[in-house]
Amino acid sequence: MAKIEIENVYKIFGDNPEAALARAMAGEGKDEIHSDTGHTVGLHDITLSMEESKTFVVMGLSGSGKSTLIRHINRLIEPTAGRIVVDGVDVLTLNDADLRQFRRTKMAMVFQRFGLFPHRTVIHNVAYGLEMQGVEKRHRQDKAAEWIETVGLAGYENSYPSQLSGGMQQRVGLARALCGDPEVLLMDEAFSALDPLIRSGMQDQLIELQEKLHKTIVFITHDLDEALKLGDKIAILKDGRLSQVGKPEEILLEPADDYVAAFVRDVNRARVLTVDVVMRPPSLRLTTENIDAALREMQGHRDDFGYVFDGDDFRGVITERHLRRAATTNGNSSVYDLADDSQTVTADSVLEEALPTILQSDTPVAVVNNDGEFRGVVSKRELIRVLTEHREEPDEAAQEPKRTGP
Ligand SMILES: Nc1ncnc2c1ncn2[C@@H]1O[C@H](COP(=O)(O)OP(=O)(O)OP(=O)(O)O)[C@@H](O)[C@H]1O
Ligand SMILES: [Mg+2]
Repeated sequence: MAKIEIENVYKIFGDNPEAALARAMAGEGKDEIHSDTGHTVGLHDITLSMEESKTFVVMGLSGSGKSTLIRHINRLIEPTAGRIVVDGVDVLTLNDADLRQFRRTKMAMVFQRFGLFPHRTVIHNVAYGLEMQGVEKRHRQDKAAEWIETVGLAGYENSYPSQLSGGMQQRVGLARALCGDPEVLLMDEAFSALDPLIRSGMQDQLIELQEKLHKTIVFITHDLDEALKLGDKIAILKDGRLSQVGKPEEILLEPADDYVAAFVRDVNRARVLTVDVVMRPPSLRLTTENIDAALREMQGHRDDFGYVFDGDDFRGVITERHLRRAATTNGNSSVYDLADDSQTVTADSVLEEALPTILQSDTPVAVVNNDGEFRGVVSKRELIRVLTEHREEPDEAAQEPKRTGP
């Protein structure tokens, strides 16, 4: 279900946005409009749907409109044209009191520069939102202490921000945002000021928290690795326009234009793509226990191996050779017991982890989910295709159609 819908939003910065808006709507670009009118196109016809309980990442170079976009969601910025709908409510229709209520209860922001009150202790920073809501002291201190513990800062309740490292300060920022139990977390470059290792740790913590909390998170970054790691969906902005929206694997495998292609060119796919992206249904499912019947079925099929199921229960893979040998030596045994279930990979593991198992196996390896249920198979060939095919230069690809002349 869509939690946040952004519909045909334009934002023009300047004194007379209407005139520039008309030009933008007629298709003129940001540079042209700026040099002719002095107005800046912050956003150009953005339509996006952000699903409830998912992490939506907005990515793009500096000046592409990321902050402008996120600030529309809690109406810190109003659009020049278009609508922003949260939980079915057009935020532009909210009066002042409703808007205050909306910002207090539905949304929380986490800032790049942490935005902590320097003269307040950690616990008072975290409890601030609840204090503003008039929550009674004892209760808000208890709540704040819980969140401080959740982000791993127990023991620092009475420290001041200046006594903490950057990573710790941002944990306070995160605890403060979560303390009011908002439905939506708006995070504008929240981890960008942190050292790489600390940053990576914060990303892990956010993923872990999100597995429990299921917030709707809008996360802004200019870092593709961060976007791929955190995003259920990623939108890529360029000069205020949307270049592409998609799942991480769609962005990686099917970049919509040269701008996106340039971003993804150097990504280590093995570290980003998960097994389920390259998984396929098995070509031969065997559902009989009887060796002769299984052998007949396999002989009528192009593959000399099959995946054995007892009802929905995956029992393992078996080869034609193995079946043949069994038919002559122990014809009474069950295919279910002969099948080899020792080699499986997990659907959500990254390719890098699954690589050794897949490469060492003679047959495509069964993919299971975390409950051990069969999901599909992954072959060496598919794996290699996905890991190698992207090396073509986008510039060459763009020139290709022109080469068709005599
Ligand atoms: N208040 C403002 N007045 C005029 N122009 C603005 C204003 N805010 C943003 N802009 C312009 O709008 C465009 C988008 O800016 P925005 O801050 O949203 O980019 P960004 O993607 O967040 O960049 P960064 O990665 O540097 O934070 C830029 O061209 C910027 O100069
Ligand atoms: Mg910004």
